[in-house]
Amino acid sequence: MADGDLLIAQISDTHIGSKVEKPAGINLVRLDRTLAQLCTMTRQPDLLLVTGDLADEDDEASYRALRERLALCPFPARVCIGNHDSRSAARQVFGAGDDEFFHYVVDAGPLHLIVLDTVEEDRHGGAFCEIRSAWLRARLAEAQDRPTLIVLHHPPIDTGIDWLTTSPAEPWLARLDEALAGQTQVVALVAGHIHRPIAATRRGIPVFVCPSVAAPIALDLAPLDPEAPDGRALVVDGPPGYALHLWRDGVLTSHVAFVEEPPLLATFDERMQRQIRIWFAERP
Ligand SMILES: [Fe+2]
Ligand SMILES: [Fe+2]
Repeated sequence: MADGDLLIAQISDTHIGSKVEKPAGINLVRLDRTLAQLCTMTRQPDLLLVTGDLADEDDEASYRALRERLALCPFPARVCIGNHDSRSAARQVFGAGDDEFFHYVVDAGPLHLIVLDTVEEDRHGGAFCEIRSAWLRARLAEAQDRPTLIVLHHPPIDTGIDWLTTSPAEPWLARLDEALAGQTQVVALVAGHIHRPIAATRRGIPVFVCPSVAAPIALDLAPLDPEAPDGRALVVDGPPGYALHLWRDGVLTSHVAFVEEPPLLATFDERMQRQIRIWFAERP
């Protein structure tokens, strides 16, 4: 870790063990390809976050498969749970969680991380009860002077993707807003769940949604009537994605990338060196 710098990789929605994935087991292959890319980067991440929907069902073998792969990475990894996850199975395998919920804090050097549990059993959307709100308030109060990143599965925003989005009227959003009000140390919220990269704000706080390791969701912002199937694309085939969040000089910069092998158009060679030297020379 460079002095004061922190590079956090984020992956999300691995959905290991999904019974609808085709071919069977492809989500583990997609995870392996994603981790291989992260593990061989010139600058490796200092930390990896996996933001929920880790497994598709209540199945400890899927969580163990994820844990085994994360353990092979040359950087530490921390996970949060999503609506597909079993809190008890995740806890059994990852052992995280401060109390009845799967939430905890991580001291990541220059950044303080608060990992939230937004899961309510048998519900697709998010949840954030008074107990979790009180826990978050206490954690924020303990470290008010630390730049803080909030990590959660459900993005607290209306994404415009009607069939997956969070309704602005959901009570858990108001509860989260109250807990975060005036907490100027919070630099961003990073989430998953939508299987697409999205940037937004919530009450002035940046919200970032990481693309999925499992199959992505189609980008279609037209209103959807649940009573009128219109044949629109919902889930599409596409490469797994990930994010890199660079914390440097008090700024969080988030990059999105996909695990594919695009044709190479330029390398850092003598020709490019001439140009890059000029760009460096411009800097104060
Ligand atoms: Fe998901
Ligand atoms: Fe989800």
